Amino acid sequence: MDSFLIQGGRPLCGDIEISGSKNAVLPILAATLLTREKCIIRRVPDLSDVHFMGKIIRSLGADFNYENGIVTIQAKRLKARGDYDLIRKMRGSICILGPLLARSGKASVSMPGGCVIGTRPIDLHLKGLKALAAEIHIRGGYVHAKAGRLQGAEVFLGGRVGPTVLGTANIMMAATLAEGVTVIESAACEPEITDLAHFLIAMGAKIEGAGSPRMVITGVDRLHGAEHEVIPDRIEAATYAMAAAATNGEVTLHHMRCDHLAAVLDKLKEAGVRMEARDTSLKILPGGEISTVDVSTQPYTGFPTDAQAQLMALMLKAAGLSIITERIFESRFMHANELARLGADIAIEGPSAIIRGGLPLSGAEVMASDLRASAALVIAGLMCPGSTQVNRIYHLDRGYEGMDKKLRSIGAKVKRVKER
Ligand code: UD1
Repeated sequence: MDSFLIQGGRPLCGDIEISGSKNAVLPILAATLLTREKCIIRRVPDLSDVHFMGKIIRSLGADFNYENGIVTIQAKRLKARGDYDLIRKMRGSICILGPLLARSGKASVSMPGGCVIGTRPIDLHLKGLKALAAEIHIRGGYVHAKAGRLQGAEVFLGGRVGPTVLGTANIMMAATLAEGVTVIESAACEPEITDLAHFLIAMGAKIEGAGSPRMVITGVDRLHGAEHEVIPDRIEAATYAMAAAATNGEVTLHHMRCDHLAAVLDKLKEAGVRMEARDTSLKILPGGEISTVDVSTQPYTGFPTDAQAQLMALMLKAAGLSIITERIFESRFMHANELARLGADIAIEGPSAIIRGGLPLSGAEVMASDLRASAALVIAGLMCPGSTQVNRIYHLDRGYEGMDKKLRSIGAKVKRVKER
């Protein structure tokens, strides 16, 4: 397994182009299964999760081609059963369930397992599909779903901690081909859901209210092929913004959407980060004294759980106590123990992490446990003097396009070390 070797303690400086959003593109790729016609998706990030989704789509009998950030897909015929092992390995692949069922009247996909950040149930996905008149059975590790034509219905998708993002995507995709009107209450409002809605609308779907908690979908008989450009990755942008601030650097992020990052930028300002935000670019300026902030993660428009670990790394710089409370996933503090190897003082109390910042840090060997935890370790490694080795960076390759290259382009000393 590859590692990153980082020589930290140098300010980052330069310009970075933000890639297309991983979390937007995965459901969009799944949505292409709703039509027999060809779809073209642009600004698709070169990520292992994307190629993995491609494998799943090919295993269902569709053509999938990735070239220079452009994916061409055509699903003339579809198998109803996904490859058990492929789907089991990637949580995001659950979003093929809705499109497969809507298109073929049946679908069998492996039950996604839990992961290090929490239990990750799919009860809300299944509740929504059942409301649309699907019969669902769980047998032999598979979710088997069957329906004649799906029927529009009212579906409440709020769960224990609020709406579900991929659950909303699944029900919304299924409802596009259902008979009649589906109303999703407590729908997720994330920009990735709005982007999916734009693609579905380009395919001929009738969707109102995307981006709000109440979505109305009027089913149509068929969808057609479409072209779409994926929105910029707001979490990648948040990560580089925090890396720049953590190293007291001067970095401009291009091709991004500042409006998708309001909660993050607000917190960074409160923490004393100097910045110039325009619609599609963000410049982080040096010289800001980083101060402590308290944050609770929330569904959009609140502070994203996917940027929590990176903020924790930044807070190691702020003298005093910061409290980060994780409200979306129950075990999402795996990075805290690894940050401790660099000299961090972080206490976990229930859903909160209490960070005593401002202590001296020094490089060490650390282990990445999940995608965003790995990003936090990279930020901490860039910030602290000495050499930090981040192991198991395959997690980063899942969600950050060419992270080592991008960091080197803004002056970081980062080397990818291949496992011998
Ligand atoms: C998506 C994102 C992930 C992000 C998360 C929250 C993708 C590929 N992944 O994951 O990066 O961290 O949104 O913003 O887009 N829940 C249930 N029952 C369900 C589904 C979810 O109880 O059926 C709970 C989850 O355990 C969690 C919360 O709802 O506590 C939110 O999860 P959800 O929004 O579904 O996350 P994902 O869509 O899987």
